[in-house]
Amino acid sequence: MEREALTRHMEQIDRNMLQLQRDLITKNASEDYSGEIEPFTNYAHSGSAEDRTRGEQLIAEGKVGCLLIAGGQGTRLGYKGTKGTFPISDSGKTLFELCVDRVKAASEKAGRDLPLAVMTSPLNAKEIETFFAQHGNFGLSADQLFFYSQGMLPFLDEKGNLFLETKTKIAEGPDGNGSSLEHFVRSGIAEKWASRGIRYVNYVLIDNPLADPYDAELIGFHDKNSLEVTLKCIVKRDAGEKVGSLITRDGKIEVIEYSELPDDEKRALNSNGSLKHCCANISLFCFSMDFINSIGNGEIVLPLHKAFKATKQLDAQKDVMAWKFEKFIFDVLRYANPERVKALLYPREQCFAPLKNLHGNDSVETVREALRKAGIK
Ligand code: UD1
Repeated sequence: MEREALTRHMEQIDRNMLQLQRDLITKNASEDYSGEIEPFTNYAHSGSAEDRTRGEQLIAEGKVGCLLIAGGQGTRLGYKGTKGTFPISDSGKTLFELCVDRVKAASEKAGRDLPLAVMTSPLNAKEIETFFAQHGNFGLSADQLFFYSQGMLPFLDEKGNLFLETKTKIAEGPDGNGSSLEHFVRSGIAEKWASRGIRYVNYVLIDNPLADPYDAELIGFHDKNSLEVTLKCIVKRDAGEKVGSLITRDGKIEVIEYSELPDDEKRALNSNGSLKHCCANISLFCFSMDFINSIGNGEIVLPLHKAFKATKQLDAQKDVMAWKFEKFIFDVLRYANPERVKALLYPREQCFAPLKNLHGNDSVETVREALRKAGIK
């Protein structure tokens, strides 16, 4: 029985992807940091009442949906449950409930039930769907709420070999938030939404309770400029903040992750003493449905990123170090028409208070404080 289960798991592993993973561990970690790179500063500023009104109109017409990305493992937080179930507000509301509250408020304003699709992973899908069911879907109608799951990728040891986590299972982890659009399309939800007339998708991460699932201004700005992708960005707090940096490479907007931008570049200053790489990615986007379909049609394979992480191995007394592989959502920018990508800069206190750690920066205390300031209970 055990052997059969393991054989089945082995058969599910994508051999082409495995080769890409093996190729990657023989290369330099910051290999992606190459080519003619310039810090990106050509953003527009938020605060346009006209864009907001335009977005409100589109939302009210049923042309917008929201993707909530919740497939991560949240290892840094050290919380037993999946991150969305963490009670974070002063009144004890979880990250999931806070997001749903905003979807309901936007629905009320729009005069229609606005849709929410939650991306889970094979590791937390059951936990998340059960959590919603136990809470009566927090008042969302069955027609409004969707779930789909991302995929998994095997870990590799230092030599590039697969290894076992249990007697029936190869060690593996979620394949990164970069697979969210591809799985959204594969799940059939994108098609269903498009047939309902949805043209734009607002993309938010579960760990940031200030993320607005129906940001009317972002949507209005996106529509006014006929864009494929709009990135919501903020000014970096300091050189060490763990956020991606917006850059331009060969005339295109891209993001380089904090784990891949060399330290000297992170700390580099302009002549006036300001940070050279000052524009932070917070992974909040507006995507056009046509663009999402072009990413999810099976022809595009986003690049993989690797990280050396502690993980479980069969019969090992403690966690072992191994290579984990993920796709990053902002890599879809490489496939967008550069003329149809723009960034909109927001004040941090309006849109960014991520829950990453138990203490210190981006922790329970800092998020609670930001929620209080924003008047969210
Ligand atoms: C992410 C961004 C980073 C940004 C920062 C802001 C990416 C790749 N990086 O980094 O540029 O500055 O947030 O807070 O987006 N997730 C999945 N499946 C996975 C892995 C992650 O759904 O396999 C989800 C998590 O649930 C979470 C989000 O993606 O909602 C971010 O994941 P995390 O790994 O915490 O990203 P950061 O390293 O903080």
